[in-house]
Amino acid sequence: MKFFIDTANLDEIKKAYKVGVLSGVTTNPSLVAKEGVKFEDRIAEILNAVPEVESVSAEVTPNALTADQMIAEANELIKINGGDKNITIKLPMTLDGLEACRYLTQKGVKTNVTLIFTVNQALLAARAGATYVSPFLGRLDDISEDGVQLVSRIAELFRIQNLDSQIIAASVRHPDHVTRVALAGAHIATVPFKVIEQLSKHPLTDQGMEKFAADWTNAL
Ligand code: E4P
Repeated sequence: MKFFIDTANLDEIKKAYKVGVLSGVTTNPSLVAKEGVKFEDRIAEILNAVPEVESVSAEVTPNALTADQMIAEANELIKINGGDKNITIKLPMTLDGLEACRYLTQKGVKTNVTLIFTVNQALLAARAGATYVSPFLGRLDDISEDGVQLVSRIAELFRIQNLDSQIIAASVRHPDHVTRVALAGAHIATVPFKVIEQLSKHPLTDQGMEKFAADWTNAL
């Protein structure tokens, strides 16, 4: 399973990229709004900051509700930085979003269908040619449903039906989500920077380093 980072914060993206485990970036309107920056400018900055990843998701704005409006916005986004091959157009899981997904896929543009909460939605998105489908596990857990089970069922369906779309486990809230979606067959987990930090930590690692340092000093 690969890691994407789920943020529009440039410092966090740069820090995670430097570690060397990052394969992509996902953003959404809420994450961009939090940064207080111009959307297209921030996407350009992100694309420049992570040249060796496979995908940077830029979502059409909430004002684009029809397929034509989504395609019009996508056509502007794919021009950023002279047509960066990593840009991925993130589209909502609606019938218009699917129509835009099919159109953009046929034009060779990478797509990420977002806000997926059922297996059937994932199946539709895959049939529309989505490069990525994004089930939101944390938001399902929030309403007492089982987000990891959804990822597992989508992975099983894609295997049985030989569907090519990659599953991005999204709305990841903590390290246990990461372990469980990896075992459930997600291709990618998109995670906040805080979770990347948490994944690297264990108290016994810290204690072990302290003991090595103390033993080393005592031996001198
Ligand atoms: C994914 O692409 C979304 O940006 C994200 O994972 C949503 O997460 P949230 O439910 O924590 O807002």
